[in-house]
Amino acid sequence: MAEKLIIFDTTLRDGEQSPGASMTKEEKLRIARQLEKLRVDVIEAGFAASSNGDFEAVRAIANTIRDSTVCSLSRANDRDISRAAEALSGAKSARIHTFIATSALHMEKKLRMTPEQVHEQARLAVRFARKFTDNVEFSPEDGSRSDLDFLCRVLEDVIREGASTINIADTVGYAVPELFGQLVRTLRERIPNSDKAVWSVHCHNDLGMAVANSLAGVTIGGARQVECTVNGLGERAGNTSLEEIVMAVKTRCDYFGLDVGIDASQIVPASKLVSGITGFPVQPNKAVVGANAFAHASGIHQDGVLKHRDTYEIMRAEDVGWSTNRIVLGKLSGRNAFKQRVQELGIPVESETELNAAFSRFKDLADRKSDIFDEDIQALFSDESVTPESEHFKLVSLAQGSETGERPHAEITLSVAGREARSRADGNGPVDATLKAIESQVESGAELLLYSVNAITTGTESQGEVTVRLSRGGRIVNGVGADPDIIVASAKAYLNALNKLHSNVQRVNPQLGV
Ligand code: KIV
Ligand code: ZN
Repeated sequence: MAEKLIIFDTTLRDGEQSPGASMTKEEKLRIARQLEKLRVDVIEAGFAASSNGDFEAVRAIANTIRDSTVCSLSRANDRDISRAAEALSGAKSARIHTFIATSALHMEKKLRMTPEQVHEQARLAVRFARKFTDNVEFSPEDGSRSDLDFLCRVLEDVIREGASTINIADTVGYAVPELFGQLVRTLRERIPNSDKAVWSVHCHNDLGMAVANSLAGVTIGGARQVECTVNGLGERAGNTSLEEIVMAVKTRCDYFGLDVGIDASQIVPASKLVSGITGFPVQPNKAVVGANAFAHASGIHQDGVLKHRDTYEIMRAEDVGWSTNRIVLGKLSGRNAFKQRVQELGIPVESETELNAAFSRFKDLADRKSDIFDEDIQALFSDESVTPESEHFKLVSLAQGSETGERPHAEITLSVAGREARSRADGNGPVDATLKAIESQVESGAELLLYSVNAITTGTESQGEVTVRLSRGGRIVNGVGADPDIIVASAKAYLNALNKLHSNVQRVNPQLGV
């Protein structure tokens, strides 16, 4: 039997560290459920000590997920580890992941600690974590830039203290595949008790090599766990992309000879869910999950694929969960048909109240759009107006006008903390006018960093999905909104982002110290 490659997903922790990607507890829970359906082995649910919100999210995920191990990150100190253990106490299978930086640069400049202090703290952290669980992972942060002899001493000791997974982090995406693979291999060869732990790799994508580095860690280094995120989400250029690792290992099983327990048909739904919730669109030419990943535009390719699929296709779109835009429901569809399709799509619905609210949004949509596709139904549930945090600002109505030669204008009625108010503005275009009308009431002081529109399905009938990114006082948030009218979608997205700024969730960044 082939050896197993453990898939450790950190979308909800490292992915969430991406500026603007922070999620509510409910959003994290939805993604965690999808990751469980995807059959990932370990879900890093968050960093419990970073904020009360993250503690509650880790706790909710630990209490809900039954088929994947649930993990919390913690810095190498007793308080973080105790918080992680407490948040994970309801998990069927729990892991504590503790880390400390081991490179000379990080120890001296960031931690202001001597190598001896770091060594001792790593040892004590693992010893303390073992009081709560025998599933303890240790990561030397900036491991790829650490002194080899020092790393060997620290890792030998943390394994002796009971760390069962050792995760070599390429924190700043500096590694190159061959050297990184050799680093993991040398560590495994030189550390006498290395066989007592599973070796893992955790790569960042700053030079676009996170997937290649992770695979080299597996093939050359013998790592048997890869840490990754859906869509490669993560700080800066992101983390190793889950879908690319999984499909590389599956498609080239002749070469890798490893098993992954992943249900690949859940990859695209997971990608869409993460992108919808975080507001980070997937680039069209992204491997596996990009809209063009299976589109053959050239005549020669199309001809080849029609004659024999394998000529130009190494994977099948349907195997990774792409469905063709299928008309599923329309204006006349009733609540039962809607409920059934929601169930078939595997969208978790907590209560009849939630279903009824979604059904009413569906009816609104069906009044304005004749054909409703699976993607539209999914978007109804990623409409963040369903979360309580988004209640502060609400769109009541919007009228806007634009005409050749005239300056576009918009008139908007908002509910702000339950009180309705109307405002009007003009702008360079109808979107500009609408956002200015909102700002003239709200006066958020936020800076717009990004505005983008995507069609949810194909054709001009499609709903537009708008993403905006706002920044205020060092905080960055994303907002998403969908509607057949892209001006309305823009207003919804903008209000969604304002609601996130208003909710004022603050988190400690794990990588800022001990
Ligand atoms: O990139 C990194 O070093 C990390 C560690 C916490 C594993 O995310
Ligand atoms: Zn990381």
